[in-house]
Amino acid sequence: MADRPDLRTAVRSAVAEAAWYHTAVFYQVYLRSFADGNGDGVGDLAGLRARLQYLRELGVDAIWLNPWYCSPMADGGYDVADYRDIDPVFGTLADAESVIAEAHAHQLKVIIDMVPNHCSNQHRWFRAALAAGPGSPERARFWFRPGRGESGVQPPNDWPSKFGGPAWTRVIEQDGAPGEWYLHLYATEQPDLNWENREVRAEFEGILRFWLDRGVDGFRIDVAEALVKDPALPDVATRAEGSGMPWEDQDGLHDIYRDWRRLIDSYPGDRLFVGEFWLRPVTRLQPYLSSDQLHMAFNFDYLSAPWDPARLRTVIDATLSTVGAAASWVLSNHDVTRHLTRYGRADTSHDWRRDPSTVDLELGTRRARAAALLSLALPGSVYLYQGEELGLWEVDDIPDELIADPLWERTGHLVRGRDGCRVPLPWQAGAPGFGFGPPGAAPPWLPQPAGWRDLAADAQAGVPDSMLELYRAALRIRRSRRLTVADSLAWLDAGAGVLAFSRSGFSCVLNTSGRLARIPPCEEVLLASGPLVEDMLPPDTACWLSAKPSP
Ligand code: GLC
Repeated sequence: MADRPDLRTAVRSAVAEAAWYHTAVFYQVYLRSFADGNGDGVGDLAGLRARLQYLRELGVDAIWLNPWYCSPMADGGYDVADYRDIDPVFGTLADAESVIAEAHAHQLKVIIDMVPNHCSNQHRWFRAALAAGPGSPERARFWFRPGRGESGVQPPNDWPSKFGGPAWTRVIEQDGAPGEWYLHLYATEQPDLNWENREVRAEFEGILRFWLDRGVDGFRIDVAEALVKDPALPDVATRAEGSGMPWEDQDGLHDIYRDWRRLIDSYPGDRLFVGEFWLRPVTRLQPYLSSDQLHMAFNFDYLSAPWDPARLRTVIDATLSTVGAAASWVLSNHDVTRHLTRYGRADTSHDWRRDPSTVDLELGTRRARAAALLSLALPGSVYLYQGEELGLWEVDDIPDELIADPLWERTGHLVRGRDGCRVPLPWQAGAPGFGFGPPGAAPPWLPQPAGWRDLAADAQAGVPDSMLELYRAALRIRRSRRLTVADSLAWLDAGAGVLAFSRSGFSCVLNTSGRLARIPPCEEVLLASGPLVEDMLPPDTACWLSAKPSP
């Protein structure tokens, strides 16, 4: 019948509309800094298993785990040596299976990181490529090229590594002489895979199946914009005005994601792909979010927006009008300065460059509390980064010799990198290492600031005005209101500097102005991020209201 495909599409999009992930709150577990179960100072699966109840009580719907695969850890696990096994520092494959099963028993979905752009230089494929030499099928899985200039001493093109320095490293061939170069958009230890190569595609389909068969609910796709390169590998310095980078947003990506979508749709349950695309503005995500490709993508425009009502509103409107039901709201992750710290600086936007300006943590905390209520009120899914529910700040004073982020070495010690948001969580105020590990454990792999004592989870639990209790209350209310993507947002006029909107009998008001703001008429103030002043909303405070019943 001619109308069959349309009908199928319609049914599929109706199902997709109702999928759990469109309204879910995801909690990002940066495993090596979450909880240490075996006492070696590094977070692991045993630590996570022991804290699943905490996550359940927090009220999130799902966890996203950063890479847990076998890895030499040149980039915190984003250099994968074996995609089908767990790194011993985290546990075993059996532990991973237990985490999936136990998370499910706690009503928590589990999505895991997939790293398809590059693998580790210790991956068996890359070792085989080095051994096999130029022109071999083993090298064709990567981007090996002869160098330029006399004897090939210059890299094949001018691409920079995102971690500093050139994106190419020259290898020593079997005869002991310098030979070809290979491409790595990130660290030297992270050779880029060649997605033109059929074996690469087949291998990743096998890896996806391996984990889907073990019950994961989806994948976060690392560096989702960069898998496909312009095969001519053109220099960027001489590219045409207005043309994009030859390693991002290339047409061929869509075919990969269409194949992956068919694959994941063949599994029962609503499983998802969420893409990490640093493509801005948010409108550039839309082509990847059609119903035959990815389910959602992180909203980095929202993360990057300054604490400015007009800019926030613009991002919110652009998101909802372009990606609609696939909207997500993200403020922090393991790659960026924690938003509490950003919001306490003079420049509140996210920027990769290190901002040395002083931080007003009290102001940052107030805004972070308000921002939590804003994010959790918007239509769409929300991604929380571990520790934001405790009000953790960016740690700016990690001793040089302890810095693990490859950015530090690759930039010749110019950029300290991302360790400041990766400091192990404080669980118990009174315990060594704030209870990151069991009694007698080695100290956490990065030192925690003494000031985190008051932010330890056990110091906040049950304390009504703590950050933890704010998140718990907000998540409880969010869950009980059961708002769906159909409960769309209508802006309310609440005065200059005040963002206010309603969604089906529920409203959120955020005061970013420097003065008290009037709270619109309501039946009840459900929750506020800080104390109200004579029924007025103080600066940098948000509240949730239930609507006044219509007369
Ligand atoms: C992504 C990850 C980041 C990692 C990079 C290379 O951006 O989030 O942590 O360093 O990819 O894999």
